[in-house]
Amino acid sequence: MKVLVTGGCGYIGAHTIVDLINNGFDVVSVDSNIRSTTQLLDGIEKITGKKVRNYKVDLCNLEDTHAVFHENRDIVGVIHFAALKTVPESVADPLLYFHNNLTSLVNVLKCVKEFNIPNLVFSSSCSVYGNTKALPVVEETPIGEAQSPYARTKQMGEQIIEDYSHVNDTQSIILRYFNPVGAHPSGLIGELPLGKPDNLVPVITQTAIGKIPKMTVFGSDYDTRDGSCVRDYIHVTDIAAAHTKALQYLLDHKNESNCEIFNLGTGNGVTVLEAILAFEKISGVKLNYVMGPRRPGDVIAIYANNSKAKEKLGWLPQIGIEDCMRTAWQWEVSLRNKVLSN
Ligand code: NAD
Ligand code: WQD
Repeated sequence: MKVLVTGGCGYIGAHTIVDLINNGFDVVSVDSNIRSTTQLLDGIEKITGKKVRNYKVDLCNLEDTHAVFHENRDIVGVIHFAALKTVPESVADPLLYFHNNLTSLVNVLKCVKEFNIPNLVFSSSCSVYGNTKALPVVEETPIGEAQSPYARTKQMGEQIIEDYSHVNDTQSIILRYFNPVGAHPSGLIGELPLGKPDNLVPVITQTAIGKIPKMTVFGSDYDTRDGSCVRDYIHVTDIAAAHTKALQYLLDHKNESNCEIFNLGTGNGVTVLEAILAFEKISGVKLNYVMGPRRPGDVIAIYANNSKAKEKLGWLPQIGIEDCMRTAWQWEVSLRNKVLSN
């Protein structure tokens, strides 16, 4: 069975392709490489022994997107990862985000409809909940005020899929990721942030390796157990596995409606300082950090209730914060070794 993965050259897409292949699926990828290279495809081939074809196509271009679907009309489903995801960039250039993330989704849905593709899985984000106080968040927790245009594209993307699902036969699953971190245990694929990273874990590993001289913990006076923000860090291979399970759930017709939503988190809240401590413990590196002011727009605390994904998809996150840090560190070290050997 063949699956079309959009954004397959990116961080979560690449890990999901590995999981799909390991579970017997054939995969084709569509990625314009606007935020990636084809480097992770080489890693996928080393891990799985399979060469994955990527169509270098911008999904905002309907004609090109249509041509890919036309050539792959035998697919059993689409997993739609492709999007821009940098929160501060979306604040600075909202139209870029609305255009890229929503036009690409609408074009994918047009092709899904035209070619009668039965199944769709969509990457959403816990950022759709906004600054909620109801913790842990369940899927029914009301959608909050979006804290950025990026988050708004995810809220709107979900609504577009829900409206589409009311009048079309496609079975859809929306997956709301909490904070995906870590890398494949092989050290062959991982996150490749272009430019300076904003997310905590790449900031930690790049500080430890010396690419960033010193990092700042944003906020020390929050009403949390140590004053820093709380997040639900979920390993990328656990996230990847959930996509295969979601697709299988749809293929087995276990879904109760045309469009179902699942939280993907561990259910455990971890503070920034606890994450740093976990990193220092597994790496033996003393991190150079300072406590700084709050980062505007940061949610104080958020973590998932993941019971629905556990019960219905049979998904069980396997990896805790220390192994998240261990694999992220292994990946950072492998990137340095690659540079040194070139
Ligand atoms: P990523 O940037 O590593 O991968 C996204 C890929 O999509 C990139 O390779 C990029 O080149 C491609 N892309 C973007 N726009 C495109 C377009 N118009 N046409 C074709 N390709 C395009 O990001 P990721 O971390 O793998 O995220 C995957 C998805 O998960 C995104 O939708 C993101 O919003 C969502 N998500 C990510 C996180 C996270 O923290 N990483 C959290 C929640 C949700
Ligand atoms: C985590 C914690 C920071 C960097 C973002 C998006 C969200 C989702 C995941 C896509 C926060 C703190 C960070 C640093 C720090 N992405 N931090 N120093 O903000 O939870 O979520 O990524 O959907 O939509 O908003 O993730 O990794 O940026 O931050 O202290 O240098 O680490 O303040 O508390 P966030 P993050």
